[in-house]
Amino acid sequence: MVSLATDATLGLTNLDDEIVVDELELEGELPRWLAGSLLRTGPARWDLGEQTVNHWFDGLAMLHRFTIAGGTVSYANRFLRTKAFAGAKNGTLGYREFATDPCRSAFQRVASLFDPGFTDNANVNVAKVMGKWVALTETPMAVQFDPETLETLGVSKIPATTGGLAHPHGDGAKALSMGIQMIGRPHYRLIEDDRIVAKLPVRRPAYIHSFAMTERFAVLIEHPYTVNPLKLGFGNRPFIENFRWAPQDGTRMVVFDRQSGEHVGDWQTDPFFVFHNVNAFEDGAEIVIDLCAYDDAEIVGALGLQRLRAGAPIPKSYLERFRLAPGGRVERTRLSDESLELPRIDYGRANGRPYRYAWGAGARADFFDTIVKVDVTTGETRTWSEGYPGEPVYVGRPGRTDEDDGVLLSVVLEPERGASSMVVLDAASLTELARARVPHHIPFGFHGQFSRA
Ligand SMILES: [Fe+2]
Repeated sequence: MVSLATDATLGLTNLDDEIVVDELELEGELPRWLAGSLLRTGPARWDLGEQTVNHWFDGLAMLHRFTIAGGTVSYANRFLRTKAFAGAKNGTLGYREFATDPCRSAFQRVASLFDPGFTDNANVNVAKVMGKWVALTETPMAVQFDPETLETLGVSKIPATTGGLAHPHGDGAKALSMGIQMIGRPHYRLIEDDRIVAKLPVRRPAYIHSFAMTERFAVLIEHPYTVNPLKLGFGNRPFIENFRWAPQDGTRMVVFDRQSGEHVGDWQTDPFFVFHNVNAFEDGAEIVIDLCAYDDAEIVGALGLQRLRAGAPIPKSYLERFRLAPGGRVERTRLSDESLELPRIDYGRANGRPYRYAWGAGARADFFDTIVKVDVTTGETRTWSEGYPGEPVYVGRPGRTDEDDGVLLSVVLEPERGASSMVVLDAASLTELARARVPHHIPFGFHGQFSRA
């Protein structure tokens, strides 16, 4: 009998094969209107030979494509051919990753200050920005790729992606992003397409993974997980190990006017930790921000590779609402008692506006094992639990009037089969419509996007 924990660790096992399958084995029936490709990125190799990286986030990036056409699903997967990929060929890292450094001498470390050598191991997210598909990680090195062949086309020249954030906002044509300048005079910046809209000096920058936007505002959630930028350059610890949890500082919500770049103001609230914003909107004179909140930054270390491979449980995040009122008051509410991470919404229609539904992956036991739907207006929650599902990507039915009239696409690890499937759920009821079986396991990844045919 294999324990649950051992089952899940298959998702943290290297995948070396690159394959193309014209037609996956399909169970159930795909909606007729559904056509296009689910494009995803994630780490796929953590054991490099001489060196095993320290963290889930540090594996070499691989792209996956599921294309739905004519009632069938095809699949392909391919490592990104980056400098980081080439650099890892001799069995050790060539670049500094999130929680792992290459084996370097002190001299090389000092030398690298003058050529920061940001990694291009884009294993966090994919996005269509200014008409081009890019894979993103938390450095300025976005990697452009071909969405059909998954071929790596080179480091992107798209300015909006250079902020170092893997979660830009945008509609495929225009892009809004944020970033942190750590070198020189540290500051946060707001970037729209190729223009820096705002700069805000900061002494101890926070670790920022995503940000909130409404129709008028961009909001940076500065949780108290911060760094002395000098340590990033001169210290001898991997990137994220330089950050410190300082709950006494609380969380500052920094609001910018998107048009003018004006720093509208700061709202101060309790300490919490966040990777993912869900949505935000204006409600009269108030700004409403929904995000996945953790009690503290323990999750960062909890996603260490050794811990996860040993089956240690992960801390849970919950969907919470922060209402920023005039005068600096912040009202905080938990919207559901079911844990929720890797959130998705009906982005095209609902982003930045009042909305009704959020979907995500929840952890009931030790790891993400549930797909969750929350009605943010009532708290009503539905779940679907089977295997280990990743982020559920929402695809709306063309011509819909209801916000949940569509499907969710999620890559689910099936421990009993020792492989993964793309599962198609009805987004309203969370009932399973179809499942396309991949012949191998797909290592646990982070984010993907649907490209409509
Ligand atoms: Fe993310």
